[in-house]
Amino acid sequence: MKLRDCRSHSVHSNHLKKKKVLLSGPESLSRLNQVLSTSDLATPALCLVEALWMLEKYNSRTKKSEALWKRANTLFPGGVSHNIRTFGMPTCNSYPPYISRGQDGHIWDVDGNEYIDWWMTHYSLILGHNNAAVKKAIQDQSEFGHHFGAPNEPEVRFGEQLQEAVPLLKRMRFTASGSESTMYATRLARAFTGKNLIGKSLGGWHGGNDALAYHLKHPFSDTPIYDGVSFDFNDRESFDMMLKNHGRDLAAVIVEPVIGAGGGIPPEPEFLRYIREETAARDIVLIFDEIITGFRLRFGTAGDRIFGAEPDLLTLGKAAAGGMPLGVYGGREDIMALAAPGAIGGQWVGGGTFSSHPLTMVAGLAVLEQLRAKKGDYSRLNNMGDSFRARLNEMLGEMKAPLVGTGIGSINFISHLRLRHEEPIKTPGQLGALFDHRQQDIFQGFLMQEGVFGYHGLGALSFAHTQEDVEKTLSAISRAIESMRHIKSKRK
Ligand SMILES: Cc1ncc(COP(=O)(O)O)c(C=O)c1O
Repeated sequence: MKLRDCRSHSVHSNHLKKKKVLLSGPESLSRLNQVLSTSDLATPALCLVEALWMLEKYNSRTKKSEALWKRANTLFPGGVSHNIRTFGMPTCNSYPPYISRGQDGHIWDVDGNEYIDWWMTHYSLILGHNNAAVKKAIQDQSEFGHHFGAPNEPEVRFGEQLQEAVPLLKRMRFTASGSESTMYATRLARAFTGKNLIGKSLGGWHGGNDALAYHLKHPFSDTPIYDGVSFDFNDRESFDMMLKNHGRDLAAVIVEPVIGAGGGIPPEPEFLRYIREETAARDIVLIFDEIITGFRLRFGTAGDRIFGAEPDLLTLGKAAAGGMPLGVYGGREDIMALAAPGAIGGQWVGGGTFSSHPLTMVAGLAVLEQLRAKKGDYSRLNNMGDSFRARLNEMLGEMKAPLVGTGIGSINFISHLRLRHEEPIKTPGQLGALFDHRQQDIFQGFLMQEGVFGYHGLGALSFAHTQEDVEKTLSAISRAIESMRHIKSKRK
């Protein structure tokens, strides 16, 4: 059976319906175990058995979320408007909490339960939830009407501020999402080079657009609709192989300076510089997707200023606009010129109805103003993340737990592996091969029950998180692992 099926709630439910099992609570376990032990789906269905034990506390205190989840499932495929927002809970026969409020590093669900938030709106909220200056900027702007679909002054001011912080943005365009930005950056590279093929890292997530949503999860299978090839980040041989086989046909290589959804993996020394040199030598456009790393690791971009490699184009989003919908793509003037209306040799790049939305522009201005003032504080935030991760990995080692913490600075992921792995994991390909999707979801469910909200294990710290949040998270992780062990020992 495919891994994908193990994660599917409906597979469990349909299977159980077929077997006529009535699930009424933990007391039905022995009956359920009996049925499942004879089942061809025994392994995935054990997710459900475990879930009946493990999320009892969570389920009993989230009744309003449960009711909303039931309604949502009659509206949205899988109950959600973004696949990631199930937070893996259906694997545990549960549901995500519905969030109604956020303040600094914490959020509250509709039932009033509090969580330490590591997800931080897909890593966007580097200043924390409900930032007073961002809120005021949005309120003030909305006094005048909130969008006109026309040029507006905040757009020019925000563009100037971004250009000052990221001088590589000789020209830029605003969009309403990261996915649009990477799509347009890719399209420009294709127009500029007259070639079609795109290269990206295994596991690299650049949004759901048709140019780039391939080779996302191990075993990284091919899908014919994408005109793309991949390499394993940090693996020069794999990069060389891609160039050897496809170098002449490549329009662009797009890569995150730190792999995000593919495992929170920072670049090995000189790796980004190496791909810069190799792409430049072949006139392949290099795009750095800084939608996570931009303004997160420092005030500005990371690829050039931390890791020493300058791309031709780059994309930004998330942290740069404090939780408002933003995408930015920009870079070299000669390439960006092809985005202009009627550009000779260009092709239609365009924009979108909600590009340079005034509420986003003023929110971005309020974010940049605060982040500029915190330039010197980034090292404190990064150290907080680095020391958290060191302690986490030490704790996981002492517990001999098959999990690993990865990341850099405030970016912190935890991956549940099939086995304890002592060597450092350096590439998304390695991580993908070791990753245990089902146990990851169950671990995530336990963390949720412990009041820690995250995905990819955790997510990102913000300037609003405290050392107390970090200490509580470490304790919650330890309890989550102990609970998983308890469940497994009960099952034996
Ligand atoms: C590195 C990276 N690029 C692009 C995207 C897509 O951005 P959006 O979700 O705003 O479309 C994401 C989103 O998670 C991302 O992490």
